[in-house]
Amino acid sequence: MRYIKSFLIFSFVAVSITLFGQIPKAGVPNQRKESPFTAIKNRTWWKEAIVYQIYPRSFKDSNGDGIGDLNGIISKLDYIKSLGIDVVWLNPIFSSPNDDNGYDISDYRNIMKEFGTMDDFDRLLKGLHQRNIKLVLDMVLNHSSDEHDWFKQSRSSRTSPYRDYYHWWTAEKGKPTPRYSFFDVNSNAWKYDQITDSYYLHYFSEKQPDLNWENHKLRNEIYDMMKFWLDKGIDGLRMDAFQYVSKDTLWKKYPDGYEKDIIKYYGMGPNLHSYLREMNDSVTGKYNVMTVAEGAGSTLADAHSLVDEDRKELNMAYHFEVMDIGNDPKGYNLPDLKKVFTKWDSSFANKGWLAIFLANHDVPRMVSKYGNDSPAFRETSSKLLSTLIMTMRGTPFYFNGDELGMSNIRFDKIEDFRDIATLNAYKNVLAKGEDLNAFMNKEKFISRDNTRTPFQWDASENAGFTTGQPWIKVNPNYKEVNAQREERDPNSVLAYFKKVVALRKSSPALIYGSYKIYDIDHPQVYCYLRSQGNEKILVILNFSNHNVNYPIDKGINTSLSKLVLSNYKTAEIKDHKIDLLPWQSVVYKIN
Ligand code: GLC
Ligand code: CA
Repeated sequence: MRYIKSFLIFSFVAVSITLFGQIPKAGVPNQRKESPFTAIKNRTWWKEAIVYQIYPRSFKDSNGDGIGDLNGIISKLDYIKSLGIDVVWLNPIFSSPNDDNGYDISDYRNIMKEFGTMDDFDRLLKGLHQRNIKLVLDMVLNHSSDEHDWFKQSRSSRTSPYRDYYHWWTAEKGKPTPRYSFFDVNSNAWKYDQITDSYYLHYFSEKQPDLNWENHKLRNEIYDMMKFWLDKGIDGLRMDAFQYVSKDTLWKKYPDGYEKDIIKYYGMGPNLHSYLREMNDSVTGKYNVMTVAEGAGSTLADAHSLVDEDRKELNMAYHFEVMDIGNDPKGYNLPDLKKVFTKWDSSFANKGWLAIFLANHDVPRMVSKYGNDSPAFRETSSKLLSTLIMTMRGTPFYFNGDELGMSNIRFDKIEDFRDIATLNAYKNVLAKGEDLNAFMNKEKFISRDNTRTPFQWDASENAGFTTGQPWIKVNPNYKEVNAQREERDPNSVLAYFKKVVALRKSSPALIYGSYKIYDIDHPQVYCYLRSQGNEKILVILNFSNHNVNYPIDKGINTSLSKLVLSNYKTAEIKDHKIDLLPWQSVVYKIN
């Protein structure tokens, strides 16, 4: 109770300052002293932060070319601030021919033409910092674009000083050892290049040649480039596909079917840790920034080896085990989801730190995948999922648009898709004569384009995203699901999101507290207790379309419980039981 009170006092002071333009007079006790966080030792800003991911291409177009841009983001800074988040992560904004929407960089020190200029970037960074929001940029360092000057030089001759910036296999050695490519039309990661009669390696598309991290000159160029951005004042780096940078350069043959377990073969290569330590020593360790790895190897031990404090490598990582659940349009088993979250939480209870997320630009919308996006449940289940993310241990990474309850667009014509992953896989299926219908049905549900449709600002044409022709179709539900409408509705998904964000920000238990799960095998309900000192927060989530009468564990003293948040008006614990409505989420303070 104490902290809630002091939080209220603190926010009242903050509100009165802004409302009346007054600064508290001397003699008024310093409210900060009463902060619920004073008892927490070793506070770390990136553990307390909530990260909001912006997909710049789809956020807001400022000049009518149908493509979101930096000035568009600048025009929405007040909206971003109103969410209560602390950090913005931008998907890549560097020069790129956009084979993979910016994940193919042709110049790491410049801004993509469609997105704007360096001046725009500087204004964006300033505008965020003025609002006390930090900025994380996406470092794509496993590969560059084939249009990067390094690659142009590298492919020009076998004796180019840039030759070893990439991985080459000369044709006289015969066919290269097979390597699987995620995006290639034929899944072949070796592309023959006539100019020097050699093959180059590309784990992703053929326009994304893999950089050769064995080469210290390349590494130093990358560290210099990182310093360039850090010296501009950015606050963090997301390390894209970084677990793949260290390759087995003996090019051993892998067993048949290895591509089904690709992280085991491609991830956590022999020199990965030495590169990360070198990077920490020469760059990231010198700045107060957060670093987060996409991918965490294939075991808990791998993940720890990347993020444990004493290793001095990275601050946190995100694993994909949660993402791997829920890819079947028919649904998933709640206990599986609970077990994955719980396994990772237990392993990181005392050491290391993780990110928590249910969606990003590489997966479907969270409400379509883990909730229920039918009209009856879209809003409530969106709220429930936001509750889950904001009440777990780990730094929340929240994808733009989810705060509105945006849902999958479900393209059924190949012409509507924009993602290279889908387009090339389609060609692959065609070439192999596989079942095209089955493929299209799957893509409809899991395609990355589902999260990449334009942000829905209002009910005007193109959802207020652009005055031109959007680069990808707008979800037709924008008249109902949009920021303007939701800002006016106190019961909207957006309004709820702001509340659950504020709750997390005020609660040491939700950020640092222990996590204890109850009834892990319960098929509909996810129930857990977060505790820190005297503060105990009980979260109960009904992951089903039905009412559930849920008996609360007798060990939890609910006698003085206080409901602090729910996505329905009513919730009551009676005789240690609670009647949960469909997709109801409840958060109690337990005393
Ligand atoms: C990461 C990105 C993804 C991109 C890939 C290649 O997985 O998140 O969007 O396609 O790396 O850079
Ligand atoms: Ca634009």
